[in-house]
Amino acid sequence: MTPVFITLEVILDVLIPYVTAKLIDYGITAGHMPSVYKYGLIMLVMAFLSMMAAIMAGKYASYASSGFACNLRNAMYRNIQRFAFSDIDKYSTSGLVTRMTTDVTNLQNAYQQIIRVSVRAPINLLSSIMMCFIISPRLSLVFIIASVVLGIILAVIISKVSKMFALVFKQYDVLNAVVQENVAGIRVVKAFVREDHEKSKFWAAAKRLYDLNVKAESLMALNRPVMNMVVYGCIIAISWFGAQFVVGGSLTTGQLTSLFTYVMTILMSLMMLSMIFVTITQSIASGQRVAQVINEEPDIVNPEDAITEVADGSIDFNHVFFAYKGGSGEYALNNIDLHIRSGESIGVIGGTGSGKSSLINLVSRLYDASKGEVMVGGRDVTTYDLTTLRDNVSVVLQKNVLFSGTILDNLRWGDENATLEQCREACRIACADEFINEMPEGYETKIEQGGSNVSGGQRQRLCIARALLKKPKVMVLDDSTSACDNATDASIRAALREYVPDMTKLIIAQRISSIKDCDRILVLDNGKIAGFDTHDNLLKTCQIYQEICAIQEESGGDFDKPQDNRKEVQS
Ligand SMILES: Nc1ncnc2c1ncn2[C@@H]1O[C@H](COP(=O)(O)OP(=O)(O)O)[C@@H](O)[C@H]1O
Ligand SMILES: [Mg+2]
Repeated sequence: MTPVFITLEVILDVLIPYVTAKLIDYGITAGHMPSVYKYGLIMLVMAFLSMMAAIMAGKYASYASSGFACNLRNAMYRNIQRFAFSDIDKYSTSGLVTRMTTDVTNLQNAYQQIIRVSVRAPINLLSSIMMCFIISPRLSLVFIIASVVLGIILAVIISKVSKMFALVFKQYDVLNAVVQENVAGIRVVKAFVREDHEKSKFWAAAKRLYDLNVKAESLMALNRPVMNMVVYGCIIAISWFGAQFVVGGSLTTGQLTSLFTYVMTILMSLMMLSMIFVTITQSIASGQRVAQVINEEPDIVNPEDAITEVADGSIDFNHVFFAYKGGSGEYALNNIDLHIRSGESIGVIGGTGSGKSSLINLVSRLYDASKGEVMVGGRDVTTYDLTTLRDNVSVVLQKNVLFSGTILDNLRWGDENATLEQCREACRIACADEFINEMPEGYETKIEQGGSNVSGGQRQRLCIARALLKKPKVMVLDDSTSACDNATDASIRAALREYVPDMTKLIIAQRISSIKDCDRILVLDNGKIAGFDTHDNLLKTCQIYQEICAIQEESGGDFDKPQDNRKEVQS
C-alpha cells in the first residue's frame, strides 16, 4: 500500500508548481481574478489530497516496518529455541540479545526509510526532470551539470562514511558486551569491589564509539553544505539565464518560478537517494547478523523414526570422547567407558574442570559425543525423540534457573498437568515444602526474574522438585545441593532413596559426605575415569579418592569451591 500512496503524493507534489505557474501567468500577471480563484482552488484541493496521501503512506510504512521487525524477531526466537547448547556457546547469550534488539531495530529503521524514499526519490526525480524539459529544455542543461557535480561529491563522501559506519557497528558490539557482562555479573562486581575497573572499561568502549561516531557524522554533515552550494549555484545560474529568456520572451515568469521548485526537488531527490545508500550499507552488517541466527541449523535435531519409549534407566558410555567445539580443542572427556545399571545411585566426584558436568550433559543429549556411543535404556541416545529422552532423563543443571511466575508455575515446568498434591509430594522429597509453607503465600508466592528472591539453597531444592515432577527414569543432580546445609543435603538423599528407589541417580557433588552412601562412585580426573567403585573399595584402591577424603577430613568440608570465572556459561 505504501508505494501507491507515495506515488500519489509525489505526483500531486510535482503538479502543484505547474499549477502555480498557471496561477501566476494567467491570474496575477494578467490581473485576471477568476483565474486566480480557479487555480487557487485547484491547488488547495491538490495540496489536501497530497497531505492525505502522505499520512496514509506514513501509516502503512510503519505497519510494514514494524511487522517486518516483529517477524524477524519471531523467526530468530523460534530458531533459538531449537538451538543446542553448543549453538548457544557459539553465539553467546549477549550476542543473541544484541542481534534480537539492536540489529533488528537497525533493520527496521532502514526498511522504513527505504520503502518511503526508494519510491519517492526516483519518481520525484524523473517527473521533475520531465517537467523541467517541458518548460524549458535549454535551462534544464543547468541542473544536469549540477546533478553530475553533486553526484560525484556525494559518492566520495558516502564511500568514506560507509567504511566508518562499519567500524561504528563493530564498536557497538564491544560496548554491548561490556554492558551485558557487567550487568549480568553486577553482584560479583560489587562483591569484588571492581566498580572502578568496570567503569573505566566501559568508558574506554564508550569513548571509542564516541570518536568513531563523531568522525562518521561530521563527514555526513558535509552533505548539507555541498548540497546548499550546488542549490544556490543552480539558482543563480537559472536566474541569470532565465532572466535573459524572460526578457527575450521565450519563458514566462510563472514558468521560471516553477522551474526553481523543480530544480530544488531534483537535487533533494538525489540527496535522498544518496542517504539511502548510506542506510543500506549500514544495515547490511545487521542483516547478515540476523540472517545468520535465523538460518543456523541446530547441532542437535530430532532423528527420523525416533524412538518414543525409554526401556529402563540403565546408562552406558562406550569409549566416549568429547570436546567442546569452541573450546581449546582438547578432549573434555577422554575414553570414558562406563556401565550403570537401572536404579543404581552413582556419585560423581572430581576437581573443578575434571569433566563432571560435561559427562552428564551427554546423557540427556545437551551435547553430542564427539566419538563413541552414549546409551540410555540400551539404545543410543541419538535414536530417541528428544522430548522423550529429556522427559526420562531429568537434569538439574549446575547453573539452574527459575523463571518469573509463582512457585507452582515453576514446578509445573516439570509436568504441566501436575496437581497441587503431586507438587507438594515432589517438594517434600526435595525438602522444599518446609520453607514454601513458611512463605506468606505458600505455593502461590511469586518468584522474581532469575529466582533472585529465594536463597541459593532454596532455589536448588525447587529445581530438584521441578525435575522430580517429570517422573524420570534417570535423575541427574549436578552439584544441586551445594548451597544446602549438610543436614538438608542428607535428608534429600534419604528421601530420594525412600520415595523413588527405582530411579537411576547420578549425583555430582563436591563433598564426599554427599555421595559416600551411593551404590558406586565415579572419580573423574582431567576428563578420564580415575576410579569407579564403592566408597570402601575406592578408599583402598584409588589414590585420588584417598587424597580427596584426606583433605576433606582435615578441613571438614568443601575442598573444591567452583572458581569458574565464566559464570555465564554452564560450567
Ligand atoms: N561451554 C563450554 N565451552 C568450552 N569449554 C567448556 C565449556 N564448558 C566446560 N568447558 C571446559 O571443559 C572442561 C570440563 O568442564 P566441566 O565438565 O564443566 O567440569 P566440572 O563440571 O567437572 O567442573 C573444562 O576444562 C572447561 O573449561
Ligand atoms: Mg560442573
